[in-house]
Amino acid sequence: MVLQKSLPMTAGDSECSYANNSILQRTVIVKAKPVLEDTIKNMFKNAIFPKCFTVADLGCSSGPNTLLSISNVIDMVHNLCKENKSEPPEFQVYLNDLPDNDFNSVFKSIPSFIEKMKKENYGNCFIAGVAGSFYERLFPLNSLNFVHSSYSLHWLSQVPKGLECNKGSILISKSSPPQVLEAYFKQYEKDFSSFLHNRSHELMSGGHIVLVFVGRSNPDPRSYDCCCLMDLLTKSLLHLAAEGKIKEDEIDSFNMPSYTPYEEEIKKIIQIEGSFTLQRLEAFESDMAAIEKPNGKHFEDSAKLVVKTIRAVTEVMLASHFGNSIIDHLFDIYIKNVIEYLSMGNTIKFFNISLCLQKK
Ligand SMILES: C[S@@+](CC[C@H](N)C(=O)[O-])C[C@H]1O[C@@H](n2cnc3c(N)ncnc32)[C@H](O)[C@@H]1O
Repeated sequence: MVLQKSLPMTAGDSECSYANNSILQRTVIVKAKPVLEDTIKNMFKNAIFPKCFTVADLGCSSGPNTLLSISNVIDMVHNLCKENKSEPPEFQVYLNDLPDNDFNSVFKSIPSFIEKMKKENYGNCFIAGVAGSFYERLFPLNSLNFVHSSYSLHWLSQVPKGLECNKGSILISKSSPPQVLEAYFKQYEKDFSSFLHNRSHELMSGGHIVLVFVGRSNPDPRSYDCCCLMDLLTKSLLHLAAEGKIKEDEIDSFNMPSYTPYEEEIKKIIQIEGSFTLQRLEAFESDMAAIEKPNGKHFEDSAKLVVKTIRAVTEVMLASHFGNSIIDHLFDIYIKNVIEYLSMGNTIKFFNISLCLQKK
């Protein structure tokens, strides 16, 4: 699988697009805001503001979340300038994602964002798109003040090698043998180290990174928290295989390039890579099925929301492996499986990790 070509979220603004199905990720950005706020405050505790604040959001995707974190950062810096009666900086913003991301939609949303900034007297903000993998170098040496990334770093740069024995699973599952766990961890270790190493070249001395991604609360990767959703997706694929719509060996050869790390794994990689000090690490859960429940909605609506969220981030990948023709049917079966799962009293929770790093 050539990942750079097959990972993008569903583009555009159709019913199934990422833009219309990213409430979970938006909730996570909101919940992780205190870490962002403290980091920005800490960066400017001496009340010395640069003339230009250069910030990159990595894995920006397209849709309402794309400029949300950046907008939060600009607000925070601006408020600090006000408090300190300092001139606010200009902002150079880089929005990064893989080349197949829907950058056309992103660019179309920029003029209204800049207009809003002007109305609020926020000064100059220059926004550019950067297409490429954040596991490689993206920016010149010592050119960034701040890097942010939300809900992107649990995606690996590629499907790990050596997963032939992960039969009947599309990710680490309860039945995955130890070689599979090791292969996933090795790929994660390599990728996260590269991410840190490359950012250490790009950030100015003392520059900060805030990351939010899906992790797990248990050291055993087979018991990881949101395992159920991928198991239910596997079950739906097996249902299609039983109907003769796909072959079982097509399922055996499909593996998702994703890893949800445990706190200690993250800390160890940061320590061994050595370029950053871990200033803060926090974990929080988001209950996916509860996101839309406050109005008394039934679990069927929750299941539909859950499935639409997963569809927006997996459809391109699944279609490129199994073909487009099975996608609608697959997700109809998936909805039924999630309804059944929720109706048995289960919840669907994501265990999120947010952290702040400072370049040494
Ligand atoms: C779930 S979306 C998150 C988007 C947005 N940050 C949010 O919070 O809503 C994950 C994004 O990460 C991007 N991504 C995954 N791997 C990447 C990589 N190696 N380099 C750059 N972007 C990547 C995907 O293309 C996708 O747009």
